[in-house]
Amino acid sequence: MQSFGLNPANQHIQSPPLWLLAELTYRCPLQCPYCSNPVDFARSGEELSTVQWIDVFKQARALGAAQLGFSGGEPLVRQDLAELVKAARDLGFYTNLITSGIGLTERRITELSEAGLDHIQISFQAADEEVNNMLAGSKKAFAQKLAMARAVKAQGYPMVLNFVTHRHNIDRIDRIIELCVELDADFVELATCQFYGWAELNRAALLPTREQLEYAEGVTQQWREKLAAQNHPCKLIFVTPDYYEERPKACMSGWGSLFLDITPDGTALPCHSARQLPIEFPNVKEHSVQHIWQESFGFNKYRGFEWMPEPCRSCDEKEQDFGGCRCQAYMLTGDASNADPVCSKSKHHGIILAAREEAEQAPLGVDSMIFRNEKMSNIIIKG
Ligand code: FES
Repeated sequence: MQSFGLNPANQHIQSPPLWLLAELTYRCPLQCPYCSNPVDFARSGEELSTVQWIDVFKQARALGAAQLGFSGGEPLVRQDLAELVKAARDLGFYTNLITSGIGLTERRITELSEAGLDHIQISFQAADEEVNNMLAGSKKAFAQKLAMARAVKAQGYPMVLNFVTHRHNIDRIDRIIELCVELDADFVELATCQFYGWAELNRAALLPTREQLEYAEGVTQQWREKLAAQNHPCKLIFVTPDYYEERPKACMSGWGSLFLDITPDGTALPCHSARQLPIEFPNVKEHSVQHIWQESFGFNKYRGFEWMPEPCRSCDEKEQDFGGCRCQAYMLTGDASNADPVCSKSKHHGIILAAREEAEQAPLGVDSMIFRNEKMSNIIIKG
């Protein structure tokens, strides 16, 4: 892997963008209210062409990128997906498709497999057909996901499932895991909703209570023990929402450290959520990936530790968590350089405590939510 010279912004050796995320499109047949896409995605420019994407892959690979995730929106909407996968594999990337399963067919799985795709992850909204389809905004979604999860496994891929959990489905975690075991899943990510994009807009309707969370973690642990006793290969990964933590997550393993996100119109971001920050991020149509990664203002803005105000600057944990998430700091405090309010040392931590309190007080029935679709995105843009 290539090494780099001194980065003029921080005077430290810049590591390569190991993990490239290609958000191929914001188009999606579903309308999940917890989607992490930007709420103003409808203003995004024209999608990169096949040739432009392949050029981005070549440049990123030359910089040392090793893993390439295809995501969206729904990446299967792109009819050139197999061609892009093949180009990525030919360049030596480990390739991963992150999909809702909608638009997948046995023929397309074969095509993707022949193109060399290494890994497929299918997301579900719930283990109950009715709740799943309500959240997805599609009457056929659940049946299609089940069929495609089975088809992916039948073609020799490990079955990797992702369930986003929140206050409307987390109490059914037992049934979710049961379904995964019935499906013969190999890896299951039980990811409690993180609050970006549409999920942030719907936070009050999605944040589980602490009691719900503790129940779900307990049930997951019981299942782990049961599966281990049976030598069952299924691995359960439980991701807690950082709203119930006292220290922030090391978001993206540090800004501009190893993660490079290219959005559908070619805007390059250090994370999927950064477009909302008051920073002009570079575009691959105008700059080389090398310039973007090593030299651009946006990617250098929060690298290293010099930018940090207190309490992060003098904190002995800053090298573990980098002050948390810049996007969350911006969304909750209006200033991305503030400590992530998840941290109990932040003077804004009360915002997190208030959100927890709100989750405790709100009734657990189905609240009204704003569903992610282009029409709603346009309404939000118009304000
Ligand atoms: Fe942007 Fe955390 S999501 S830095």
